[in-house]
Amino acid sequence: MRIYFIQVKAQNIKISVFLSTVYFAKIHFLTFLFKITEFLTVPAPTNVEIKSYNLNPQVSWNYPVMSQPPNFTVELKNYEEGKWIEVCTNISQKFCTIFDHVKSPDLSYWARVKATIGQKESPFADSSVFKMCKQGKIGPPKLKVQMKDHQLIIDISHPLIIVEGKEKGVVYDYYEDECSVFSYKVYWKINGSMEASPEYIQIIEEENDHRSCNETQCQLIIQGASFNSEYCVSAEGFSQNSAIWSFKFEKSEELCIKTPSGKEKANKQFHFDLILKHIQRIGEWLNKLWYLMVME
Ligand SMILES: *[C@@H]1O[C@H](CO)[C@@H](O)[C@H](O)[C@H]1NC(C)=O
Ligand SMILES: *[C@@H]1O[C@H](CO)[C@@H](O)[C@H](O)[C@H]1NC(C)=O
Ligand SMILES: *[C@@H]1O[C@H](CO)[C@@H](O)[C@H](O)[C@H]1NC(C)=O
Ligand SMILES: *[C@@H]1O[C@H](CO)[C@@H](O)[C@H](O)[C@H]1NC(C)=O
Repeated sequence: MRIYFIQVKAQNIKISVFLSTVYFAKIHFLTFLFKITEFLTVPAPTNVEIKSYNLNPQVSWNYPVMSQPPNFTVELKNYEEGKWIEVCTNISQKFCTIFDHVKSPDLSYWARVKATIGQKESPFADSSVFKMCKQGKIGPPKLKVQMKDHQLIIDISHPLIIVEGKEKGVVYDYYEDECSVFSYKVYWKINGSMEASPEYIQIIEEENDHRSCNETQCQLIIQGASFNSEYCVSAEGFSQNSAIWSFKFEKSEELCIKTPSGKEKANKQFHFDLILKHIQRIGEWLNKLWYLMVME
């Protein structure tokens, strides 16, 4: 039985231990080489990326499994100031929250990450450019649907900004700039069939009484809802100036309610409304006809 014994003074690594391990365990030669290089150099992280969900931006990256897990140091640079600042130091996890450092959603940011093991460090690995307005994702809003006096009331709560388990506000005009203003599209089905076009709710408060928004929610009221019917509602945010800003919005799940079987009186009232509408339409039509006859 032979044991190789080599000492490398400069590096406080014990290659000798490795050589003996290799000898006894008969580790594959390539694995052995890999282990040696791993001990001499620190590989750089890969796939450095900045992502944002509900206005919570994070830098993330990949790293191969090492016998000694490294620490990571993350730096961030924005277009305006143009210099790197350290945002996470000596962390062991493979992500870094940068919520406190991203002050504007339409400013360009870059991140770079290096791995360190003791005094040794890898080169930096760079992310591509990130603009929260363009690459950020916004999760689905929360819905509540109820029926009240022939009205279907749909409450749409803005998604929350959650950073490291703490609530920081709502995803609604948070940065008070153009790109954080958006609207909702509301889709609904009655008895399983889709209503022709989705309703749009402007996030900006309007005088229009049946759609309004404040800093916690938007409310859409659908007049003349039918009794004894199933209403299924879903909602999705969208940017009006989506040519420039394109947050990616996630649609909410469909929420269904069954409206109560209405009282006779209520139904009559509803039918009366419909008849009135038809009379109005016939009136308009007769008006047009008369106008045409006069013109001839
Ligand atoms: C990681 O950082 C911690 C805290 O600074 C330190 O105690 C530890 O030795 C570091 N680990 C490596 C592999 O450098
Ligand atoms: C990071 O960890 C290394 C290795 O443990 C240590 O030498 C260095 O001082 C640490 N840096 C900070 C800022 O904690
Ligand atoms: C927002 O509007 C809803 C009704 O649409 C209301 O119940 C709620 O209290 C309002 N919240 C604030 C903070 O004004
Ligand atoms: C939905 O279906 C129920 C019967 O299943 C019916 O009474 C009701 O009128 C329907 N609603 C609409 C709006 O068609």
